Amino acid sequence: MWRGSVWRFQCLKKVHWGDQPLRLNDASGISLRMDKNQQSPVEAELAIEDIGLIAFAKKAGANIFSVIPDASRTQTYLRGPANIHYVCDPEMITELLAGVGRKFPKSQFTHNVIGPAVGKGMILAEGEKWREQRHRYAPLFAARNLPVLTSHFAKTGDDLADFFAHANGEVDVSDAAQEATLTNISRVMFSGNEAVAKQDVRQGMRRFTDYISYMSLFDLMGLPKWVPRLKWLRSKKAITDLRKLTRDVIANRQSARHDVPEDFLDLLIEALDTDLEDVETTVDNLLTFVAAGYETSANTVAWGLYLLAMYPEVQESLRAEVIAACPKGPITFEALPKMPRLQAHVRETLRMYPAGALFARDALSETEIKGVTFKKGDVIMFPVYSLHRNELLWENAAEYQADRFIDRKYPRGQYIPFGDGPRICIGAQYAETEIMVLLSSVLRRASFVMTDHPVAPPNLTFTMRPSGPLILRSRPVSG
Ligand code: HEM
Repeated sequence: MWRGSVWRFQCLKKVHWGDQPLRLNDASGISLRMDKNQQSPVEAELAIEDIGLIAFAKKAGANIFSVIPDASRTQTYLRGPANIHYVCDPEMITELLAGVGRKFPKSQFTHNVIGPAVGKGMILAEGEKWREQRHRYAPLFAARNLPVLTSHFAKTGDDLADFFAHANGEVDVSDAAQEATLTNISRVMFSGNEAVAKQDVRQGMRRFTDYISYMSLFDLMGLPKWVPRLKWLRSKKAITDLRKLTRDVIANRQSARHDVPEDFLDLLIEALDTDLEDVETTVDNLLTFVAAGYETSANTVAWGLYLLAMYPEVQESLRAEVIAACPKGPITFEALPKMPRLQAHVRETLRMYPAGALFARDALSETEIKGVTFKKGDVIMFPVYSLHRNELLWENAAEYQADRFIDRKYPRGQYIPFGDGPRICIGAQYAETEIMVLLSSVLRRASFVMTDHPVAPPNLTFTMRPSGPLILRSRPVSG
């Protein structure tokens, strides 16, 4: 139950990186750091004050950041309202995700919100059912498939680069990036299906992600069921429609198989054949991959371009690196390792703007870690956004410094854009490859500068996204 005062602060650990200078690998002479006098990148608005129960419930539905205490950026553990814990201590995080708590189930509220959409899919399955699916789908995301995925992403990357180069003016990079990752998912998972118009799939997927974007903490708080969830009910049709569409896509492809697997759907159907998985679970998992993989990558690309527009010298140095690694033609898988500075930029983007900005578990049994007792049923929140900007853990936490990822490793549990332990994101390599390919394709052909439009702070529902259009000015790159 909610009891008046909300945030009880308990600092577990103070770590100072200030004494340890970063080892820079700055061959080009241009540091991936910002100018000290420049404005800092936009930040989420976290909860500064205690709020009452009703205000909490009302605010959380629209933007979860508004109920994550700002103090979670300056403390490593906080006790929240009711039975909620906010954990930003790397050792505790590792213990909870990969150690003693590794079998703690996904939080009930996550089930309530995305369950109707992704059913028994991998993201929500537990125990043996989860293990089977994880085992079955791991090969789809294996490193050996990355070159094929890269060739799909590179086609989209060329189209996106074309768009930005020709726009030669103000563009909403967030919208364009979403179109691109949606195209990638269509290419990789649903390609070549004559019976289902591509537009239907795209519209279905957009409606579907709108649906899962409405995440409510009402269930988490154990609030009464009368609290209205109109939007949730209205958009349920989006799920039914997309499930039907997905079933059709699978049936069509089954009747017109490619001899050699050409895309993700072929690989999924192969898994369906060999492991005798039922079609409904395959539908659940296809939708899981859409839900988990489309907006997340898109927003990372959008924030990545925003940061490059803020720091033109960094943008220039990354462009030079990309052109040296792959001067023309589609970006290849082999070219990616030749872009370490771009990779550091992607990591820094995921530090500052982690798409999975919060995830949670329910404690399975009473557990004590570092003096904190988690009672059975307690909700354990991992506010990745705060963790990645925690002032006790990061030097200049609010500032863009991509070179903090060059020649530098951090303690386990401090940087977890893809989670950790057995439930770590299965699509992490897919996403990193996709983001690298899209950004590198675009950087060769277009440049980006800031405009007078204010940049809206990030908003957190199912994933973290800009709370409004992210307008930059794009220009073609000459030469
Ligand atoms: C920048 C992009 C991405 C980010 C930041 C991200 C983040 C995450 C995080 C933090 C988790 C762990 C959640 C938890 O422990 O409760 C997760 C799980 C998952 N992600 Fe991702 N993800 C991204 C892209 C993708 C892509 C592209 C796919 C698939 C195409 C994907 C599929 C999944 C699945 C299936 C799970 C559940 C894994 C399991 O429970 O075994 N993700 N993701």
